[in-house]
Amino acid sequence: MQDISLHILDIAENSIDAGATRIEIKIKEDLKNDRFILIIKDNGKGMEVGKKTKDPYFTCKTGKKFGLGIPFLAQAAEECNGRFSLSSEKGKGTTVVAEFQRSHIDLKPLGDMGATMTTLICGHPEIDYLFLYEKNGQSFSFDTKELKQELDGVPVNLPEVLKFIKEEINEGLRRIKG
Ligand SMILES: Nc1ncnc2c1ncn2[C@@H]1O[C@H](COP(=O)(O)OP(=O)(O)OP(=O)(O)O)[C@@H](O)[C@H]1O
Ligand SMILES: [Mg+2]
Repeated sequence: MQDISLHILDIAENSIDAGATRIEIKIKEDLKNDRFILIIKDNGKGMEVGKKTKDPYFTCKTGKKFGLGIPFLAQAAEECNGRFSLSSEKGKGTTVVAEFQRSHIDLKPLGDMGATMTTLICGHPEIDYLFLYEKNGQSFSFDTKELKQELDGVPVNLPEVLKFIKEEINEGLRRIKG
């Protein structure tokens, strides 16, 4: 995986598979403690959490031997002097947290978050997505729930709307990330 946004896409796809109706993706850059923190939270069906979760052979997909989304993100975090955790409650939802050392030489670039978000929205427009980015007391957030209200019935997955979302997110990130 070349960048963090692709890991995010992968982890959010697990949430979609788990039947989530809301997925929250939060990134917090903590300059003081030199941490880059990624949190992905869903309200899907949840799962049994055990030692096996980070094992690349653990998957619930039938006909598939490898599940790699979680182990790849866990490995990326651990390689950057960080850590990974997954907590889940059956019937309630799942939260994945990956923490990285912000200044670590191996920390991957964020990548195209606008593209990741529009890919998710385009595939499953019925789901509500929140994206929040925090850095230095400043934040940028984008919530499809709010946008859908403003759109007043216009589908969120129209090409023009998706283009607007992508630009809105990437522009917001440019402002915050510097
Ligand atoms: N958010 C989630 N809610 C419920 N179950 C989950 C969630 N995330 C992961 N799982 C469970 O953990 C398994 C492993 O996830 P992982 O992303 O590592 O692999 P995968 O999704 O099976 O395969 P891949 O990501 O390689 O396509 C999944 O098959 C699923 O059963
Ligand atoms: Mg997966």
